[in-house]
Amino acid sequence: MDSHSSSRHPLWLNPARTPDERARAATAAMDEAQKLSWMSGPMAIPVGCEAKPEGAIGSAGYFPAMPALGIPAQQQSDASLGIGNLENVRPGDTATALPSSLMLGASFDPDLARETGRIVGAEGHAKGFNVVLGGGANLLREPRGGRIFEYVSEDPLLTGRIVGGSIAGIQSQHVVSTIKHYAINPEETGRVMVSSDIGEAALRESDLLAFEMAIEIGKPGAIMPGYNLVNGEWASENRFLLSEVLRRDWGYQGWVMSDWGATHSTVKAVLAGLDVQSGANIDPAPYFGAPLAEAVATGRVPAARLDQSMYRQLRSLFAVGAVDYPAMPGGAIDYAAHKRIAQRAAEGGIVLLRNEGALLPLGQGPQHILLVGAHADQGVLSGGGSSCVTPEGSLKMDGASFAGLSLEKVYHPSSPLKAIAAVAPRAVVTYDDGRDLDRVLPLAAKADTVIIFAELWRSEGEDVQGLSLPDGQEALITRIAAHNPRVIVVLETGGPVLMLWRESVPAILHAFYAGSGGGEAIAALLFGHVSPSGRLPFTIPLSEEDLPRSAQIDPQTVVSNPGQPVDRPVVHRDYGIEGADIGYRWFSRIKRPVAYPFGHGLSYTRFAHSDFALDRKTLTVSLCVTNTGRVPGAEVVQIYALREDEPAFQPRLVGFGKIMLKAGASGLVTVPLEPRLLARVEGASWRRPSGTYRFEIRRDALTPILGESISLPEWEQSLRHETPVD
Ligand code: BGC
Repeated sequence: MDSHSSSRHPLWLNPARTPDERARAATAAMDEAQKLSWMSGPMAIPVGCEAKPEGAIGSAGYFPAMPALGIPAQQQSDASLGIGNLENVRPGDTATALPSSLMLGASFDPDLARETGRIVGAEGHAKGFNVVLGGGANLLREPRGGRIFEYVSEDPLLTGRIVGGSIAGIQSQHVVSTIKHYAINPEETGRVMVSSDIGEAALRESDLLAFEMAIEIGKPGAIMPGYNLVNGEWASENRFLLSEVLRRDWGYQGWVMSDWGATHSTVKAVLAGLDVQSGANIDPAPYFGAPLAEAVATGRVPAARLDQSMYRQLRSLFAVGAVDYPAMPGGAIDYAAHKRIAQRAAEGGIVLLRNEGALLPLGQGPQHILLVGAHADQGVLSGGGSSCVTPEGSLKMDGASFAGLSLEKVYHPSSPLKAIAAVAPRAVVTYDDGRDLDRVLPLAAKADTVIIFAELWRSEGEDVQGLSLPDGQEALITRIAAHNPRVIVVLETGGPVLMLWRESVPAILHAFYAGSGGGEAIAALLFGHVSPSGRLPFTIPLSEEDLPRSAQIDPQTVVSNPGQPVDRPVVHRDYGIEGADIGYRWFSRIKRPVAYPFGHGLSYTRFAHSDFALDRKTLTVSLCVTNTGRVPGAEVVQIYALREDEPAFQPRLVGFGKIMLKAGASGLVTVPLEPRLLARVEGASWRRPSGTYRFEIRRDALTPILGESISLPEWEQSLRHETPVD
């Protein structure tokens, strides 16, 4: 065949051929040893007395090149918040740190996610990486989750669209992105031995729907199952997830790579659908190495399964151009331009939670501004773990230890103190760490305005214990508030915290983990250079007692580190309690008030909404939004659906859009609604019963602005995609 007509110009190196044709031809040219070399790979850093693998740049994973075939090595790096440098394996190499994914969720802006994804892809490519381990798409079922800053929201639609945008941005740079951690992996404590138990319909309507939508939009080349078990089976060898849902129903064509140290078997895993054992040198056995060769030789695994794994990997690499535009270390990176984009993303995500008496924005009035806490003189906090990025000049402190690695607590070098001093040139701006109340209270009393930076460090490997601000910060806030009426709290908490102190201060900004331009973004919002337009991507509860599972897993009773023997029975967590009613839907179901609802966020301007129209055929909403205030600003239009004849159907976000408007300007917003969110999973279908549906524009998940009720006919769609999701 023409594929091998010339060894110098094989078909698979011809960009005019489709990724399918190329992947098939290249697979056919590979021998078994080559195939096995891409089914099991080590961490690409020194582990114990093993050196970094030869040929590896140094990062999370490495699979060797096949020079005779013209196929480059796979150099895999974390992650969605920027290119990481695990254990400083590439000495001194730094990168742009994006705002955390949760902050991107707060932007409600998939275009922004695409733009920030593009930066990750571009920096990855310029550093020599062709696979980026991004795309965190788990839903926030557990607000105390250690890793929620790497995820987007408690809502499937918002998560699907933001993650999809981010993946598309990464892959536009000839770099494959993963989507992870498939699926329903909300807790870090005990993550390698906790089973997420839930019924199939509820799972498909929630966490799986988020993945499904993100895959449809972003077409990630690879997917990474979580460390956890789902309904009693490890995600990485879960036939339901990997074969039935992913392949049979969605027609997904990319490859399944295990998380690092998350492979548990050979025959079972490979037949369930796992294509690659990642981080193989931290697993207790080389499952996809010699044992897999043996299983093929003895007929327990068909040889065609190796071809399938190769085909999936190669197809994804060809599809993004990773072979035609090979990544090489040493490429040019415009860090200054990327920092500006990181700042813009942070500005789009900061949420103004409270602004009594219009204290914000601060004008040039204050003469003396005191900043307190969270190293606000130096930078902004980052989340910890494999996603942590260290831009040049980061402040590093001892964090925690996990999987034999020490995790640093990192502050990105974007100092709020310097940024505020720059935008308030006439004010004296000072800093106190807030650790000594006797020292800080008199300073606070003397200042015109006090900005308290409150922090909560979250990290991969363990959840935070409780949702209260630690280390006396709640008392710090209320005591300072008693000495000065002009107190602003800036939260750098990576997610929700309890805020029983909230009414003691006039203004609160949620600044998540804000990344390389975080300090500048906070200053821009505080001083009104940008009007806040972020909206909460989660609910802030009044009490942990109101959560579906108020009790947390006790870290002393479980194992959380991958690669460590699990010598005790699996812990089962019942996510069937809330089922698909996560976050705001849960609070609506149990009728409990909250501190701040999902979707909440104030602005420095005001918006009016009119001309609401709903096209029943296409399920598209259009409306006119007018900026009736005095400054430019962006409005997030949130459309929720309710069923008047089924009270058990909690309000659901079915569409959203964001529009930037100058003062006095109007614009038309058109929002397609997601039909699956109006339906339930019944058997092998999505089914929307006929009935009266109400569509409401809401200011947040709880506050209607206007709406319309219409009757819709029955609608049904198979769970199986007619065209593969790629
Ligand atoms: C994390 C993954 C990450 C991998 C490689 C694991 O600990 O769960 O998200 O991609 O390490 O660093």
